[in-house]
Amino acid sequence: MGLDDRDALRVLRDAVDPQNGSYELIRQFYLHWFATDLSARDLFPPDMDKQHAVFAHAISWLLGELIDQRAEEPVAFLAQLGRDHRKYGVTQQNYDTMQDALCTTLRNHLADRWDDRLAEAAHDAVALIIGVMRGAADAEQGPPYCDGTVIEHIRATRDVSVIRLQLDEPLYYHPGQYVTVQVPQWPRRWRYLSPAIPADRGGAIEFHVRSVTGGMVSPAIVGETKPGDRWRLSNPHGGMHVDRDGGDVLMVAGSTGLAPLRTLIMDMTRFGENPRVHLFFGGRFPCDLYDLKTLWQIASNNPWLSVTPVSEYSIDPPWASDYPDVQPPRGLHVRQTGRLPEVVTRYGGWGDRQILICGGPQMVEATKAALIAKGAPAARIQHDPLAS
Ligand SMILES: Cc1cc2nc3c(=O)[nH]c(=O)nc-3n(C[C@H](O)[C@H](O)[C@H](O)COP(=O)(O)OP(=O)(O)OC[C@H]3O[C@@H](n4cnc5c(N)ncnc54)[C@H](O)[C@@H]3O)c2cc1C
Ligand code: HEM
Repeated sequence: MGLDDRDALRVLRDAVDPQNGSYELIRQFYLHWFATDLSARDLFPPDMDKQHAVFAHAISWLLGELIDQRAEEPVAFLAQLGRDHRKYGVTQQNYDTMQDALCTTLRNHLADRWDDRLAEAAHDAVALIIGVMRGAADAEQGPPYCDGTVIEHIRATRDVSVIRLQLDEPLYYHPGQYVTVQVPQWPRRWRYLSPAIPADRGGAIEFHVRSVTGGMVSPAIVGETKPGDRWRLSNPHGGMHVDRDGGDVLMVAGSTGLAPLRTLIMDMTRFGENPRVHLFFGGRFPCDLYDLKTLWQIASNNPWLSVTPVSEYSIDPPWASDYPDVQPPRGLHVRQTGRLPEVVTRYGGWGDRQILICGGPQMVEATKAALIAKGAPAARIQHDPLAS
């Protein structure tokens, strides 16, 4: 029966489902795997809690899809995951040992009810999952990652850096996409960052990074990055886009959430005619609006773009004078005071617009909820996934 045995698959899914408290099983699986394959351990960061959670979530979702006999979405997900996993340096041996370790852990965990049907379903499901990942990784011709050298680091505000790199080879991505990045200060801790300029044939790339309080990687990027650092980039993802025939556009950017929206706007400047774009760019203090000058330059040459600066507080803190003056010449809308969700919805529900929201997870959630409450259709709102 194997993959057709839905009852057996259900038992396996329930065992790995984090909602049923699968933490111990997943922990045992990784312990078992690393005991049989030390080279696999080396690929992961020291703390595994987050990995346990994402792996349990992925495996239980995949088994759920198999139970419902759906193939298209899980196969596409696994193929992408397999191609993406090339950047970690996963080997064929790692896949073999993982397959054995997962089947053995399931057998040990379900020992009191293990029978031939469960054994067959477990074997076939794990072989399918790992087989699709491995097959897609093997079939991929392009390089698994792309390295680059930091050439400039500008401390734009107290907690935001603009970092420019020269890549060894150009990296192709669509405007609005994000990439995964590994920095020398934190090897093996990949983070998502959104390029702040469109893909460049010459290999130039720019990122805007905000130091998140209590974060691991972002404070190191803002505090320690220096010219000459070598960064590793991989895997453009995401589908945030402007439909140039889809009507006018509302963009809402909180802090470095500006990066992908700026890239989309820069890309639009290639065209003579565009839908109207209204961008709200928000920060805590006026001095946090670090990129207003660039936006002013673009808006002054492209009448379809309007920019409203927004800050939560109306005056700057004393430390603002330590960083570059962000005030652009007159030409943008008057700066508004308040939080982005409130300020944006003061102007209405924007229901007739394509809406793109980008920034920290709380700001995105709050702005989306406020717009929907004012009548904007959820289907017209785009944002990136809120967590990696
Ligand atoms: C699709 C996508 C694109 C992104 N693009 C950018 C970008 O262009 N520039 C940029 O600066 N960041 C961007 N991020 C956020 C970035 O990937 C990291 O999550 C962020 O820098 C925190 O990493 P860390 O290692 O410092 O914090 P971690 O050690 O991973 O997390 C520490 C704590 O901070 C919280 N946290 C994580 N991210 C945020 C956040 N953005 N705001 C508030 N709290 C947070 C976590 O929930 C956790 O509690 C993007 C994230 C996603 C999902
Ligand atoms: C030989 C096999 C594999 C190896 C060596 C491996 C290794 C890794 C590593 C090193 C990470 C990054 C961890 C981090 O950044 O903290 C990762 C992430 C992840 N892995 Fe795997 N993995 C393997 C197979 C699988 C399989 C079979 C699945 C699920 C079906 C899976 C699902 C995930 C997911 C969802 C993530 C997080 C997203 C991402 O970073 O791509 N992995 N894996």
